[in-house]
Amino acid sequence: MKTRITELLGIEHPIFQAAMSWASSNAPLVIAVSNAGGLGVLAAGPMRVDDFRNALREIKKKCSKPYGVNIPLNGKYAAELLQIAFDEKIPVMVASQGGPREHLARFRAVGTKWLHVVASVEHARKAEASGVDALVVDGAEAGGHPPPSQVGTIVLVRRVVKATKLPVVASGGVADGAGIAALLALGADAVQLGTRFIATPEASVHENYKRAVLAAEVQDTCLVGPRSLPIRQIKNAFSAKYESSSPAQLEEIFNSSSLKKAALEGDVEWGKVEAGQSAGLIDDIVPAAELFHRLVRETEEARRRLASL
Ligand SMILES: Cc1cc2nc3c(=O)[nH]c(=O)nc-3n(C[C@H](O)[C@H](O)[C@H](O)COP(=O)(O)O)c2cc1C
Repeated sequence: MKTRITELLGIEHPIFQAAMSWASSNAPLVIAVSNAGGLGVLAAGPMRVDDFRNALREIKKKCSKPYGVNIPLNGKYAAELLQIAFDEKIPVMVASQGGPREHLARFRAVGTKWLHVVASVEHARKAEASGVDALVVDGAEAGGHPPPSQVGTIVLVRRVVKATKLPVVASGGVADGAGIAALLALGADAVQLGTRFIATPEASVHENYKRAVLAAEVQDTCLVGPRSLPIRQIKNAFSAKYESSSPAQLEEIFNSSSLKKAALEGDVEWGKVEAGQSAGLIDDIVPAAELFHRLVRETEEARRRLASL
């Protein structure tokens, strides 16, 4: 499958492992996916600067193919992380939150392709105007930060494909090849999967977190946090407390929990177990490379099925 994204990035298959704080803040998952012919994306957001540099060096040593790095541009250590990514001449940046314009020229000079994560038509247009190479479009089903508007992946991706000329990587709600084929049919040039890759041995989250993803049904996620920047997570004791609290208490309760608590400590009752609705489509833990090959096979099957109708 050749698409504008496979051509732009020099990857074999139009399938990304999405950036996920903690779950993909480690080299092995990224290496497994990129070596299998997709794009593995390192989530730098929660990483210490030295850990980030070491992870990049490990990826470069063990992976000869393109890989991506996600840096939230308004994060506390964004400047340091960006400098390291620049020094290491990363092949692909998948930037989120914040404006890309001021960074593009210098990264382009070292050959980095710049993809920008957006969750609305307005931000897609802005990112296009600032000169990025491609867009990652997150719909409402997505784990992590879905769009505040709650427009679903099918509608938002289709709208952005029509509203911009840039290659689009569709994101949110996909856990298998049928979903990948569906979003490619909409006009996306690649598809990224986050939650699906949590259920791999390589994802660096606690076993309890992986088990929570396997146990979840499609209706078992909810939104917590401010309406302007909601988080999708698996329902638990923390989300129930959040939902039943008075408006005056919400901020304090929100700040009393964290993704780290669930991801590293394994407290899946009181931590934020960020995951997409696609958790309800996942029922096994599979090595990332094996999962990746299965996704490619399933995508081909879905294409054949459509062609035979
Ligand atoms: C646990 C978790 C952590 C995430 N962390 C980040 C992040 O650090 N940066 C980012 O741009 N997106 C982040 N996301 C969003 C993903 O990149 C992706 O958009 C989302 O997982 C797609 O939806 P899916 O989970 O249904 O596949 C995160 C998602 C999850 C589930």
